[in-house]
Amino acid sequence: MNPQDMIRDEVRALSAYHVPDPGDAVKLDAMENPYAWPAALPQGLAEQWAAGLADVALNRYPAPGAEALRDDLAKWMGLPALANAGDLDIILGNGSDELIQLLAMAVKHPAGGAKPCILAPEPGFVMYNMIARFVDADYVGVPLADGFELDLPAMLAAIKTNQPALIFLAYPNNPTGNLWSVDALQAIVEAAPGLVVIDEAYTAFAADSRVEWLQQYPQLLVMRTLSKVGLAGLRLGMLAGQKCWVNELDKIRLPYNINSLTQYSARFALANMAPLEAQASSLRQQRGELFARLSEVDGVSVWSSEANFLLFRLEKADAVAVHASLVEQGVLIKKLHGAHPQLEQCLRVTVGTESENQQFLDALNRALA
Ligand SMILES: Cc1ncc(COP(=O)(O)O)c(C=O)c1O
Repeated sequence: MNPQDMIRDEVRALSAYHVPDPGDAVKLDAMENPYAWPAALPQGLAEQWAAGLADVALNRYPAPGAEALRDDLAKWMGLPALANAGDLDIILGNGSDELIQLLAMAVKHPAGGAKPCILAPEPGFVMYNMIARFVDADYVGVPLADGFELDLPAMLAAIKTNQPALIFLAYPNNPTGNLWSVDALQAIVEAAPGLVVIDEAYTAFAADSRVEWLQQYPQLLVMRTLSKVGLAGLRLGMLAGQKCWVNELDKIRLPYNINSLTQYSARFALANMAPLEAQASSLRQQRGELFARLSEVDGVSVWSSEANFLLFRLEKADAVAVHASLVEQGVLIKKLHGAHPQLEQCLRVTVGTESENQQFLDALNRALA
């Protein structure tokens, strides 16, 4: 007996999601917040967090529905202030990746077709495509227009043809970093025959959120994560929308998917958000500085970003060779060249601390010399 006989062809055709071992490199490849937590907490708060952690009952299963944490997160997302707050609910995932998976597993073709279709603009977040393949759904990636704006006519045509059960719109988008035109976004939500997820993973760094649309569009879900604001290690994502959707998704959520240490730590963080908010604000400022300095490098074009990373293109050098040189110099960033035709010679750098950004710029200049 071997995998060829036992494992679905689509699964064997996949490559596992590869995360390089960072060793002690400057880590600017995964959109993490560079500042430590709880070490960066104001005096006294770190001790308070650690003391509470010692009281978490590890011999017991976690609170199954994580009700207290869900309430706190609903407030963090501003749901109680919405007109239809009573109709809305929130479901938690082990990172938003798990929520994408729950959605992909739950939906069916809206018009009774064989397989559900999952649609997203591309280049976009790779997990939408990968998870569609995990669950044997069809995936349609619609190319972005020049400048990485949504190609509205192409999106509307693809929606009409494919009748997607699920549309993912990362807002801001990864890896391009931009927010979409609100009019285009609205036209897509209104044209969708199925569910639409606005994925606001990078909302802490962005000038806009569409959470208020939950009042207006019953087919809309808004997804967020704590990963980018400094708590990537907790693995906690959330999806808000009408109770009718959340109730169904909750049936396929594995029991106790949010462990007790995460529940406790996330509640503690939400009650003491000032240090994390200050970090996000400083990262937004660093982003501006990094953007300006990167734009000055000869042969580099940078896209402006509403997230905690910058996408840039090497106009005169080979991105694969430059990436390899950066790795050799101990700086990890993301190589996007080869991932999508529109990302030719592109690399993506996460905004780090001032000193990490400087190390990245120095290493890039050496690689380009
Ligand atoms: C657009 C987008 N959504 C979701 C995620 C996944 O976040 P999480 O860490 O909550 O699984 C990412 C991670 O890079 C992302 O870029």
